[in-house]
Amino acid sequence: MSNGKLRLGVNIDHVATLRNARGSAWPDPLRAALLAEAAGADGITAHLREDRRHIRDADMVALKAGIGIPLNFECAATDEMAKIVLQTRPHAVCLVPERREERTTEGGLDVAGDLPRLTEYLKPLRDAGCRVSMFIGHDPRQIEASAKMGAAVVELHTGHYSDLHAEGRDAEAEAELEALRRGAAMADQLGLEVHAGHGLTFENVAPVAAIPQVMELNIGHFLIGEAVFMGLGRAIEEMRRRMDAARAG
Ligand code: PXP
Repeated sequence: MSNGKLRLGVNIDHVATLRNARGSAWPDPLRAALLAEAAGADGITAHLREDRRHIRDADMVALKAGIGIPLNFECAATDEMAKIVLQTRPHAVCLVPERREERTTEGGLDVAGDLPRLTEYLKPLRDAGCRVSMFIGHDPRQIEASAKMGAAVVELHTGHYSDLHAEGRDAEAEAELEALRRGAAMADQLGLEVHAGHGLTFENVAPVAAIPQVMELNIGHFLIGEAVFMGLGRAIEEMRRRMDAARAG
């Protein structure tokens, strides 16, 4: 189940951040998603946060209706979100921890510590045909718990690796990468599809893309930022090129 074509999911949350900064109707996240699709994205990811700070309910409806590639609906495991997911019926749901005061999704889900509730939470989503993913760290306990609860996918949080890489702490970044490699191999062994994401850039993507069990990378903030300089289509094409090159070895 490993070493297939590596998919790129483009997270368009921060197109909505920019729109909301002025309370206008632009830039339009759906337009960005369609452009991403044309540039070779394999999926679109959007995170409907409890506080609606970027993506809003109407964006999810428009994305589901408008794009021709899979929609990955990121959300916290709350009753409110389950209702919206069941109305939207996206291809995939990625469950993430959420704290109002955080700037972004800072850590992974504690699946092991919330196993009975999450096992029940997943069932109607799975019955509705959604592939459910757990956004977790590389801790073996969390990987095991994700397999036990019946998740189809785990997305490994690459934020810590990305931070260490950006700070030039190379030995620590390499140790973190090694832990991600071990986590990916373990998840694959347990029958989970492996995704990864958070904080990935042109400079740090290659070693993560080279992990053979990783089937999908979800990348947002860097690509939307880079779009200011080189355009969204070109930024996505360049990310694809680097991912494919790393994968080819
Ligand atoms: N994957 C998950 C589960 C996330 O929560 C995020 C951030 O919303 C990403 C990937 C993308 O991270 P970034 O925007 O740093 O590329």
